[in-house]
Amino acid sequence: NSVSVFAPASVANVAVGFDILGFALDRPGDEIVARFSDKPGLRITRITGDGGKLSMDTQKNTASFSAYKLLEHLGENEWGIDMEIHKKMPFGSGLGSSAASAVGGVMAVNELLGGRLSKREILHFAVLGEQLADGAYHADNVAPSLFGGIVLIRSNRDLDVHNIPVPDGLYASVLYPEVEVLTRDARAILKKEVPLSATIEQCGNLAGFMVGLYNSDFGLLSRSLHDVIIEPQRAQLIPHFYATKAAALNAGALGCSISGAGPSIFALSSSRAIAENVGIAMEKIYLEENINCQLFVSPINQ
Ligand code: HSE
Repeated sequence: NSVSVFAPASVANVAVGFDILGFALDRPGDEIVARFSDKPGLRITRITGDGGKLSMDTQKNTASFSAYKLLEHLGENEWGIDMEIHKKMPFGSGLGSSAASAVGGVMAVNELLGGRLSKREILHFAVLGEQLADGAYHADNVAPSLFGGIVLIRSNRDLDVHNIPVPDGLYASVLYPEVEVLTRDARAILKKEVPLSATIEQCGNLAGFMVGLYNSDFGLLSRSLHDVIIEPQRAQLIPHFYATKAAALNAGALGCSISGAGPSIFALSSSRAIAENVGIAMEKIYLEENINCQLFVSPINQ
């Protein structure tokens, strides 16, 4: 009468797919526990690892809100359910922390009720939880955290989402420098218009990245991993971004860009060994500047 689920961190945008592409890491992530209780209604009974920052109010917490929306949809609000949230990843990091909680919350309650809906069917409720946190209805962190692997969201409005094949050996190095970048600021600075020439280049890169994934063509992946629209506008928000990117590429990464809205920076590599070296090279930049950082090296699992 108790279930525990893990929902991983994720990297949104992946350089060439602003708001429409993301991949899941194997760790870090959140653990959500749900169990039946005699007292009717959904309640958060415990949160750990958040430094006291997250709300215990069912309607204000992404994990419980996504689960509440599922219960409402099923007409099952009368169940007594206690939820525990164990945050095992940094938030405000650009690693999809609120998305991991939203996914974990709805997954845990769905499983507790016997797995009534499929992952595809609970996606909408997880996106509602994410929307509570950042105001926008977008699945580029939620969908990878729920399904794993690399996910293309053809349309956020319709939740037309597709897992893309992941070549063997593809690894991510993700560095979280402990500097503050607020997602709403990182979105507010973006110009609303994109020049036609940049649009053409980005479309070519996005399509090239997709073909590279389907054909396990690491050369094509590397040539395609260039964000000519968003990264040049957001790089200024992340101290030492370009030095870190140069260090990653020098160490053999296929490509390197901002994870989600930042400040985390991700690089993709064609083996675990390269990804580890890339991570160390990226980390060195911040350690030399006395900025605390956390490094995660992860395969991209489907
Ligand atoms: N795609 C989003 C962005 C991810 O870059 O703003 C953060 O929620």
